[in-house]
Amino acid sequence: MSPTDGLSVFVTRRLPGEAIARLAQACAVAVWPEETPPAPAELRARAAGADGLLCMLTDRVDGALLDACPRLRVVSNLAVGYDNVDLAACAARGIPVGNTPDVLTDATADLTLALILAAARRLPEGIAAVRDGAWGPWRLDWLLGLELRGASLAIVGMGRIGRAVGDRARAFGMDVIGVGREGGRASLHAAVARADLVSLHCPLTPETRGLIDAEALAAMKPGAILVNTARGGIVDQVALAEALRSGRLAAAALDVTDPEPLSPDDPLLAAPNLIVLPHLGSATTLTRARMADLAVGNVLAGIAREPLPHQVLAPPSAGTAPDTDRG
Ligand code: DGY
Repeated sequence: MSPTDGLSVFVTRRLPGEAIARLAQACAVAVWPEETPPAPAELRARAAGADGLLCMLTDRVDGALLDACPRLRVVSNLAVGYDNVDLAACAARGIPVGNTPDVLTDATADLTLALILAAARRLPEGIAAVRDGAWGPWRLDWLLGLELRGASLAIVGMGRIGRAVGDRARAFGMDVIGVGREGGRASLHAAVARADLVSLHCPLTPETRGLIDAEALAAMKPGAILVNTARGGIVDQVALAEALRSGRLAAAALDVTDPEPLSPDDPLLAAPNLIVLPHLGSATTLTRARMADLAVGNVLAGIAREPLPHQVLAPPSAGTAPDTDRG
């Protein structure tokens, strides 16, 4: 008899590939069948009898949910970021939390470079001009962008994804300025003041929420570009819209917003020179399959009361937030 016989896992979304089949070989599995996440009450009701929870970044895992799930042995978050999980509430109940690091580093770093290139070379404006009939004879001075070779890129958060972005940026001939937590906001502001582009790769924690506020934006070089593939809450979106409207920033390219999804009539979307993608950082077929595999490995270990292959270790309280990617 296996240690997971008779146990059950609730999975909050259908998973790619063979992930569910692998789980089902070891324990009973219930899968939320919809494309949209379960509402909190639904999640509580569905997970109530489960020994393991395999959830997404769209599911809020807090004390109220954990109290409704007295059998729960593990929370396996199918994401590298875990700001949707109240780690302290899990720790207080002895419930380990797993995440899916490493496997999405390249996909996310690639998408970051795509956004850097799109914003620096003004691709959305070019595409719109072609579609709108604004494409006239070739001109020497039309849609001129920023050359990446020799440009400086401040990378806020030099964890796995930040470092992978740095490698790619260096291959393009960019000067990379790594920004960690040491030195606080003063050193962040000094670093962004030297950069032509700023790319965010820190996790969302109480100390990074609103890190890129009006002051940080004002510290950036006039005409600089902001890229965010980490978490939307790191940027003050009202201040960002103003910095774009005033022309203080040349452009911003975001893969993440607060909230997600962003309503089509959100005022941010009226700002000029703004690219917004719908959180596609890890969206490749291979990466999503690998994330599902890691999440299944974590939940299986957790229900068997074994160490998780990828366990989130410390609650991200002030001063202890890992300087990793989102991480
Ligand atoms: C993560 O895993 O945290 C990513 O944001 C998913 O794309």
